[in-house]
Amino acid sequence: MSHTSNSRILVTGATGANGTELIKLFAAQGIAVKAMVRDPKRATALELPGVELIQADFDAPETLPVALEGVEKAFLLSNSSENAEEQQLAFVEAAKQSGVAHIVKLSQLGAESNSPNRFLRYHAAVEEALRASGIAYTFLRPNLFMQGLLNFIPTISAQNAFYAPAGEGHISVVDIRDIADVAFASLTQPGHEGKIYDLTGPEALTHAEMAAQLSQAVGRDIAFFDVPPQAMRQSLLEFGFPEWQADGLLEEYAEWSQDKAAQIAPDIREVTGRDARTFASFARDYVGQFK
Ligand SMILES: NC(=O)c1ccc[n+]([C@@H]2O[C@H](COP(=O)([O-])OP(=O)(O)OC[C@H]3O[C@@H](n4cnc5c(N)ncnc54)[C@H](OP(=O)(O)O)[C@@H]3O)[C@@H](O)[C@H]2O)c1
Repeated sequence: MSHTSNSRILVTGATGANGTELIKLFAAQGIAVKAMVRDPKRATALELPGVELIQADFDAPETLPVALEGVEKAFLLSNSSENAEEQQLAFVEAAKQSGVAHIVKLSQLGAESNSPNRFLRYHAAVEEALRASGIAYTFLRPNLFMQGLLNFIPTISAQNAFYAPAGEGHISVVDIRDIADVAFASLTQPGHEGKIYDLTGPEALTHAEMAAQLSQAVGRDIAFFDVPPQAMRQSLLEFGFPEWQADGLLEEYAEWSQDKAAQIAPDIREVTGRDARTFASFARDYVGQFK
């Protein structure tokens, strides 16, 4: 059962990885929030004190005004599908019509309209639309999520190994709990309007270094193997990934393997007042899932 609130804060993508962490912060701090979900039956993890579930769908823009009624601040996130740009532009338009004052958008490190990576291009297009909308914005630009490693649990469990075309690229991977902390601050405290936050971990690691730290945390050897991009593409497609998304991921790995996402930014510390979580702390905290 969800609770009705008079909250003026709306979180989209609430059932997802980042959204769930963010909603948990609101509940823990006793601040009421609206969680936009497509299907409340699949949102039982969000049934927390002060959390009101609102049903709406980016693909059905006519459902958005009800979700946005009375909302002053919104967190905008959808998964990176071929429709993401259209979905997020529809949300920005509906938010403008509803008089939303401030949108905190989950973007990505390096978002740029001329990027070789399609995900970074769509994020840049949405950022651009938000700037033009007159709505105050905060752009959160995280690097690769540490929690992305959870996607490799099937081969880690079966073979003590994971595979990706990441080469020896160093990546300043970030913990989504830090992203949620910055999103929470941006939505609940003044002074984040017009800001762009690059969200990275405190160190840039290769996949082999992540495997070594994971091995130490779980107490058994877990190996990383670099694979050719086409082999990765094949497994992603077999796993059911749409082509657009699989190709986008390969574009990301091509950048990451060349140290293009190795920069370390101070923004998490500047917003939260403490250091970004290390990969070692992520590995320790999620050890149960890798065992
Ligand atoms: N993975 C990375 O390492 C990484 C790094 C930097 C930036 N990013 C960015 O992070 C974002 C993904 O974040 P995440 O991993 O937290 O997402 P996620 O776990 O994939 O969750 C996506 C959320 O979007 C919702 N959604 C999907 N389609 C919808 C629709 N038509 N209407 C309403 N809601 C819809 C989903 O709801 P349902 O439960 O209804 O499906 C879910 O709550 C992407 O924009 C990506 O570019 C990712």
